[in-house]
This record gives sequence, structure tokens and C-alpha cells, in this order.
Amino acid sequence: MPDLTLPPAMTRLFHLIYRSRQSAPWNPQQVSDLSCQAADRNRTLGVTGLLVCDGQYFLQILEGEREVVETLYARIRQDPRHHQVVTLVAEPIRARYFAQWSMGLVALGPAMDMMPDREVSDDQRHYLNLAARQLYELDDHRFKIIFHAFTHGRWRADIPSPLAPPVAARSLPEVRLPAADLGAMADNGAFFAFQPIVDTYRRCISSYEALVRGPRGESPAELLGRLQGEALYAFDLHSKLWALQTAARLGLKDMLSLNFLPGALTYQPQAVPTLLRCLAQTGFDPAQIVLEVTEEEIITRPKPFFAAISQLREAGLRLAIDDFGAGHAGLSLLADFQPDKLKIDRSIVTGIHTHGPRQAIVRAIVDVCYHLGIVVVAEGVEEPEELAWLQSAGVTLIQGYVFARPLLNGLPGVDFAVSRA
Ligand SMILES: Cc1cc2nc3c(=O)[nH]c(=O)nc-3n(C[C@H](O)[C@H](O)[C@H](O)COP(=O)(O)O)c2cc1C
Repeated sequence: MPDLTLPPAMTRLFHLIYRSRQSAPWNPQQVSDLSCQAADRNRTLGVTGLLVCDGQYFLQILEGEREVVETLYARIRQDPRHHQVVTLVAEPIRARYFAQWSMGLVALGPAMDMMPDREVSDDQRHYLNLAARQLYELDDHRFKIIFHAFTHGRWRADIPSPLAPPVAARSLPEVRLPAADLGAMADNGAFFAFQPIVDTYRRCISSYEALVRGPRGESPAELLGRLQGEALYAFDLHSKLWALQTAARLGLKDMLSLNFLPGALTYQPQAVPTLLRCLAQTGFDPAQIVLEVTEEEIITRPKPFFAAISQLREAGLRLAIDDFGAGHAGLSLLADFQPDKLKIDRSIVTGIHTHGPRQAIVRAIVDVCYHLGIVVVAEGVEEPEELAWLQSAGVTLIQGYVFARPLLNGLPGVDFAVSRA
């Protein structure tokens, strides 16, 4: 039998690629000095890599032992000479690609033009050219593709200028159900909290999402987890009536998003007429209602689900895919079925301002939705920096703590003056 065991790895190599923006204009001498100092330090650390500078932004690759690279990167991130540091790749590698450069420098376009001949010695120019050639000779290496995106990509437009004007301060007051109404609501066995989806472009509330809560404040998972089969679907459908009643008592005039278990629509033949009757009773125009379902649930029983949705769409209701990106269907779902809205899952949104892969995914989703006429909402937005990035990438509908937490039996107030990054 041949020995199929792999030889033990000698060192655990790792590479990290990021891009950043210069805090202030650098002169060629400063760029050159930085790369020389970095090269000296990296030599002692066993780190290799390349620094690309185009006069405004940096792209850097650091290769070496994982812990060393991560510690160095943590230090570089803190360096006030650049900001908006976005991690693009951090992963193990088999071999170094820039083994001969403890920090090669590639100066591009304006950065190269900024370097008049008298400021760049022949040696330095030779060195710059060699590093650039090394880069072009990398077959289909990831860094080459990222380098291409760095020079040609649309990401630049996504990074807001630190000088962008602040959003004008304006706020909406909170509205709560009067105590007398709460007594009547308590008989239902569930309450509703409402969270706004904010239109940051028009600076208004686009809609409110109704989130079910148990009588003792239980989460939807706790509440629904106690029920099964028919009882679960009956509860889901009836709870929509309570949500509509609560919203009507609160005087809600905006759009209202309701989460639905698709099974509640597909296993109960009377579901669609019941829902339409509830709307009529509570005085809501069906065009005010957005039904939110998760992609996971749609793909389990697509046929009856789409039949129910057709009827609801005919009545004027709209449909949103919730938690997009957390399930399995992904973009392929959009090939067969286009919702009116798509809500990008919080797992993609969290930390987006520093996370290159998530940025690329959101840009792709925005692009696809733009071509399909689907409105994009980002959920779970908590930080002003996430908000700023999403806005500049064209996502203007935002839901999350950055604007308001869900309010039980009430419509939360919103302060639109969230600072921009
Ligand atoms: C764009 C950029 C790239 C840098 N690359 C490196 C590098 O590869 N190696 C390094 O030691 N320092 C690099 N630095 C400098 C570090 O941020 C830091 O100033 C230096 O490691 C000294 O750190 P210390 O003052 O904590 O000792 C870079 C700085 C910038 C702005």
C-alpha cells in the first residue's frame, strides 16, 4: 500500500490582503520611506508581501506565519496615516508568492506620476518595475484578481468621503398603546413589537415590521417552538389579525411588514380569504402590507406557496424574502421568482465596513436586485459605519438598532441624525 499520509507542514503560512485610504496626501518620498521601513521590520519578522499605492489608496498583501501576520496587521490597522481599512482576504496558503520582497512597492498611475525622475533613483525605479512585473506574472492568483479590482473596481464609489454632509437632525416621537387597549390585547396570547425600516434617502419611515412576542415577552422562536403542525399554522395566521389590530390602534399609516410561515398559507385553504378579511376589518389597504418569508421556507414547498402568493399579489399585497443570504437558495431563487423586497441577512451586514468579501456580496445583491426591480433592505444594522457603507453602496432601506429597537405595543421614535462614518 502506498503511504498516502501528507507530510507535516513545516510552517503554517498565512496571507492577509487589505485595502485602505490615505488619511492625507502622501508625497512620493513618504511612500518610499514607508515601504523601506516596513521592509526592514518585515525582514526580522519573516514577513513578505507587496504594497500597492495609487496616490490615494493602499492595497497590501502580508505573507508569513499566521500569528506574526495577524499581530502586524493589528498594528498596521491602528496606524493613523491611513483609515477605512477593509480586510479582503485572510487565509492559509501553501507557499509564499512574494518570497523575495519583504515589502515590495508598486506605485500606480497618479502615485507613479507623482514621482518625478529626480526623486526616484534608477535603482528605485528598477525595484518598482520588478515588483509590478512579479505581480503580473502571477498566473491566476487571487491577489492578481484583487489587484485588478483595486485598479478598475467600483468599490471606490462605495467609500464615503469623511467630508460627506451629515444627515439633517430630525426625529419622530414614540407612540404607545394606551393601558386600556393593552388589557384587550392580552387575551390574544401574544403581543407585537414594532421596528421601523428607515428610508435613509428620503429620511422617513418606509414601513414597520411587526414582531410577535409572548405574553411574558417570549421571543418568536420560544413562542412558536411550543406549537406544531395545524396548531402552529392556525396560531401564525390568527396572530396576523392581532398584529393588524394592534397596528390599527396605534394609528399606523405606513407600510406594515408581517412575518409569515409559508405553511400557514399553504396548509390552510382558508388562509388567503381570512387574511384579506382581516385587512378589511382593520381598515388596511392590502397595498400597505408586505409579507415576509424566509428563502428556506419557500424552497420547501414552492408550488402551493407560489399559488397562494399569486392570489395575495392579485389583491395588492407585496412580498419580501427575509434573512436573504442565511439559507440555501441564494441567488438561484431569484431566477425563478422575484419578490418585491429582499432583506439582506444580518450575518452579511455585521461589520460590513471592514469586510471585503461581505462588501462584494452586498454589491452583487444590489446589482442583481437593481436589474430585477427588487427593493433591497439591510437588516441588523447596528453601527453608524455599517450604515454609511450600505448607504454609499446604494442600500437606502435600513432596519436595525442604529435607528431603533423594536418597541412592545408601540411604534418607536426614530432619530435620523445618525452620524456617518
Ligand atoms: C499602508 C501601511 C502599510 C504598512 N506596512 C507595514 C509593514 O508591512 N510592516 C511594518 O512593520 N510596518 C508597516 N506599517 C507601519 C506600521 O503601521 C507601524 O507604524 C510600524 O509597524 C511601527 O509600529 P510601532 O510604532 O507600533 O512599533 C505600515 C503602515 C501603513 C500606513
